[in-house]
Amino acid sequence: MWGGRFGTGPEAAFQQLNRSLPVDWRLWPQDVRGSKAWVQAILRAGVLTSKEATTLTAGLDQVAARLANGAATGAADEDVHTLVERLLYEEVGAVAGKLHTGRSRNDQVATDLRLWCLDAVDAVDREVTELAKTLVSQARGGLDLILPGYTHGQRAQPVRWGFLLLAHAWPLIRDRQRLRETRSRVAQLPLGSGALAGSGIPVDREQIRQILGFSGICGNALDATGDRDFVADVLFALTMVSTHASRLGAEIVTFSGSEYGFVRLADGFASGSSLMPQKRNPDVFELARAKSARTLGDLVALLTTLKGLPAGYNKDLQEDKVVLFDAVDTVLLMLPAVRGAVATLTPVPARMRAALDVAMLATDLADGLVKKGVPFREAHHHVGRLVRVAEEKGIAIDKVSANASRNIHPALPGLVATLGSWEDSVERRSTAGGSSRKSVLEQIQTLERELGR
Ligand code: ARG
Repeated sequence: MWGGRFGTGPEAAFQQLNRSLPVDWRLWPQDVRGSKAWVQAILRAGVLTSKEATTLTAGLDQVAARLANGAATGAADEDVHTLVERLLYEEVGAVAGKLHTGRSRNDQVATDLRLWCLDAVDAVDREVTELAKTLVSQARGGLDLILPGYTHGQRAQPVRWGFLLLAHAWPLIRDRQRLRETRSRVAQLPLGSGALAGSGIPVDREQIRQILGFSGICGNALDATGDRDFVADVLFALTMVSTHASRLGAEIVTFSGSEYGFVRLADGFASGSSLMPQKRNPDVFELARAKSARTLGDLVALLTTLKGLPAGYNKDLQEDKVVLFDAVDTVLLMLPAVRGAVATLTPVPARMRAALDVAMLATDLADGLVKKGVPFREAHHHVGRLVRVAEEKGIAIDKVSANASRNIHPALPGLVATLGSWEDSVERRSTAGGSSRKSVLEQIQTLERELGR
């Protein structure tokens, strides 16, 4: 390919380091697509006769068929671009040598990679959507189950199980927005940028844009060939998705654990211990947590690679695919398992109820005093004293004697007597986005509309 100016070929150790085919062979469908568009571009620019263009196009289709049958396996080529070109030579002979006119592997790989990212973003979006739908449908089923809501790992206020599940669905809606925005930045065409300064052949980049379905054209050839912001965008969007799966995982690991027991994993999504027969381990959710560390590592590796590079193509950029493919594979492996495990999760209402502690109604008492005209700060103080008295006596706050609570504030005994059920407490928080039945139902409807069903 560039052997003309060298006396000897590359040393084996250098060649091994330099080759990217073991990683980038996966770009062959995009490389063929890009090449077929390039045939049209250089045909219009007068480089090819229409007969040659037809030969090259048919040849590229044959190359695609061979690659679909595994022709990349064990190939010794340097990278996917040289592999496709070699196979094209095998199919059509010397005319294959005209394909690379006016094109560089620098604008070629940037184009292939952007095309690949567009498909990857769509695939991840589909999986994120499915997981969100699953959470929403579980939330509908869990509308009337009440459990403690936690902050700092401490029982805080009662909430609906459905409400808690939705707290893990909403972030996925933002992930989908992020993927959409990422997509629009990815869909810019580098081809026609040449190696760095533009193509020496007067190709019509607008024509290429249309053929390949990009929405815009990269505005500067030197930037276009050295820009991997779009890979960082994809990696960040994926890291956020996996971070959300990780937080959901952390929740379910806790809630399915022996101490909480709020949910039970289906047999098909739990694993046992080889030693301890009683175990039912939440491996899916533990792995979801760990996989997010991996996608974050991929993002950091790319950003670290990019930060020291001057404009234009540098071979460092070849490493972008290692981390991009790893992150996409990781997320696409993890999400279906998480979705399946969420879909088959069974809540355990008795355990949820058993964890409800009257102390969690302390805020309701303070709100009650406020209604009687007590400033909130004072109300908080009074109820705090009630909690302390209860704690000292080792009893629940609603079991403190009327006398003792009257001493704290005269309105307290009456308020304690009318606290009502857990349901009543939850219904008192009926602001939009809250945990009341109506608020949760509204959220479910919004999410269902957003997710399309
Ligand atoms: N395999 C290379 C990569 O993935 C293709 C571009 C090579 N360009 C070059 N000037 N050597 O980055």
